[in-house]
Amino acid sequence: MPAIVLVGAQWGDEGKGKATDLLGDRTDYCVRYSGGNNAGHTIVVDGEKYALHLLPSGVLNATCTPVIGNGVVVDLDVLFTEIDGLNERGVDTSRLLISANTHLITNYHVQIDKVTERFLGKAKIGTTGRGVGPAYADKVNRLGIRVQDLFDESILRQKVEAALDQKNHLLVKVYNRRAIDANEIADHLLGFADRLRPYVADVSIVLNDALDRGQTVLFEGAQAHHLDVDFGTYPYVTSSNPIAAGACTGSGVGPTRIDRVVGICKAYTTRVGSGPMPTELLDDDGEKLRSIGAEYGVTTGRLRRCGWFDAPLVRASARVNGMTDLFLTKIDILSAWEKVPVCVAYDVDGEQTKDMPLTQTGFHHARPVYEFLDGWGTDISGARSFADLPRNARAYVERIEELIETPVWGVGVGPGREATIERRPFDAG
Ligand code: GDP
Ligand code: IMO
Ligand code: MG
Repeated sequence: MPAIVLVGAQWGDEGKGKATDLLGDRTDYCVRYSGGNNAGHTIVVDGEKYALHLLPSGVLNATCTPVIGNGVVVDLDVLFTEIDGLNERGVDTSRLLISANTHLITNYHVQIDKVTERFLGKAKIGTTGRGVGPAYADKVNRLGIRVQDLFDESILRQKVEAALDQKNHLLVKVYNRRAIDANEIADHLLGFADRLRPYVADVSIVLNDALDRGQTVLFEGAQAHHLDVDFGTYPYVTSSNPIAAGACTGSGVGPTRIDRVVGICKAYTTRVGSGPMPTELLDDDGEKLRSIGAEYGVTTGRLRRCGWFDAPLVRASARVNGMTDLFLTKIDILSAWEKVPVCVAYDVDGEQTKDMPLTQTGFHHARPVYEFLDGWGTDISGARSFADLPRNARAYVERIEELIETPVWGVGVGPGREATIERRPFDAG
């Protein structure tokens, strides 16, 4: 079972952290390949809660080596705060590896993220304000600062100056802000160099060697398919490729080495930030999903928008990601409803479709077509095998399998590591 990608199937916060942690003791390496500290992954172990933004969730497992790939953007202040916080709680982070090619988020990226959102006003994306978009923009513009630049002071200073040259004009002349001093930024970054050095490695070599030895590598997706810059609901997306293919470009492992792609999928739908969401509920049911499901952002504390399960949305991610399995989380939250609506298709200007409309306008016009499944009316959080679930809860899972045409390998019935049903041994495929 060598290389597995866990990828978000909806708009994020599906429970990727929990699923990653669950497999942590069966994996040798756990790799973040995209995004930055815009992610917020919650893991609950023996009743203790951890919220990770940058470190791979596998860090909580003593036998697993956590890896940050080149596709991630790293804010070093956040990285070391997270490392220190875990160390204080007795978690050993010394195994961490970081690619030398990983790009850095600096103070000016954070400032630009916030100021651009403010200028967009009503049209804002609703970013997490962590500087992620501007850091990726610099990467593509060939103005990025990478981890390896910290080990060559004169190169670092030149690069920071080049990156700030244009930005200071923008900040001062357009946004009416103070110019940022390149030396201050460079000094701040250089302050991390000694602490960072022991973690830096050629991640591509490490992971390919591990796969050659038959070890198991788990790629922990951040964000999700519908936040992908290419396949998501553009422009209301993040600035990276969270999809499974991003695991290859974001770590240096070839596509032929990926064995399984597990889509992590909530039994209903949530979204944070702006953008269309066909099954969004602006009524009491939406409020009820939010309060029972505790749907508040881990990173920004914002309310998550809530709605029923949206099959066309997940069908699209199953296809693009080549999903071999689904892990259906938070089905326990739906126990409070007598009937559970599931969106099986969209009505787009009078025409029904099971697929995502071709255009952004079409998606804005998409109205959900619901099928109403019978609820199960009982607490299922203690279920540990599929047979423990009431008949209607099993039927809910089976209907989703049918709609998405992908087998459900695991079902989450609570936030804890133990609150999980594995329908068959993971190794068996
Ligand atoms: P991620 O970003 O995909 O890792 O997900 P988040 O951590 O942002 O949000 C998922 C939330 O749901 C967290 O609070 C988890 O502890 C919680 N969670 C995960 N799986 C389940 C589940 O099966 N049932 C319940 N009730 N909570 C879950
Ligand atoms: P995890 O890994 C949910 C959303 C933001 C915003 C858009 C762009 O916890 O699932 P960005 O700061 O990335 O430029 O914001 O993407 N977003 C997320 N929503 N979960 C996440 O991560 C997210 N990361 C980014 O809310 O709409
Ligand atoms: Mg999250």
